[in-house]
Amino acid sequence: MAKPERPRLVVGVSGASGIVYGLRALDAARELGVETHLVMSRAAALTLAQETALTMAQAQGRAEVVYRPGDVGAAIASGSFRTLGMIVAPCSVKTMSEIATGVTASLLTRAADVTLKERRPLVLMVRESPLHLGHLRTMAKLAQMGAVIAPPMPAFYAKPTSLEEMVDQSVGRALDLFGLAWRPVKRWGEDIGPLGGPPEEPMGDSSKVEA
Ligand SMILES: Cc1cc2nc3c(=O)[nH]c(=O)nc-3n(C[C@H](O)[C@H](O)[C@H](O)COP(=O)(O)O)c2cc1C
Repeated sequence: MAKPERPRLVVGVSGASGIVYGLRALDAARELGVETHLVMSRAAALTLAQETALTMAQAQGRAEVVYRPGDVGAAIASGSFRTLGMIVAPCSVKTMSEIATGVTASLLTRAADVTLKERRPLVLMVRESPLHLGHLRTMAKLAQMGAVIAPPMPAFYAKPTSLEEMVDQSVGRALDLFGLAWRPVKRWGEDIGPLGGPPEEPMGDSSKVEA
């Protein structure tokens, strides 16, 4: 009998600020027993050096399978290679724009294109601010194509006490989109909420709920 496949997640890391989001997505997937397939863009080497003390080998060591960005013949370049989908964390404007146009010059953007054509979840943790109209139009186009635009926005209601908690909340909420429930995520109505737990009257008069 064929060996049962473990679920696989493709993780793309581009050269936007916030490489920690990609690194924590790899850690989370490993904790959840998900096989990770990592492709980092060349620019991601710059943010790795700028934002962390990790070597490339240490960063890539967090994934199970690592591909070179120019390896457009890799397994994740084909839709026949089954995956849960792909997360791009963080996603630069350049990578986002390349995916939106279908110009899939690197393995990262080819794998994203494949994810869309196979109708699998493609979650883009786009990081840029402020946004001009071109960025917004590109995001709208991608949303119409089926991608999920998920900029890493801090959830202050979760009352994070560290940068790590803030990052993990964003990463965990992005992984929710693949049906992966990661333990560090604080959930409204479970871990946190106006009543310290599930609301008693979800359909009630919200004006009676104290701030
Ligand atoms: C330290 C650093 C931070 C950057 N932050 C961002 C960012 O937050 N968003 C973005 O779109 N580009 C950012 N860039 C620029 C991208 O790295 C650049 O556009 C690059 O060409 C993206 O290539 P890639 O999408 O193939 O990784 C940053 C560059 C550096 C060196």
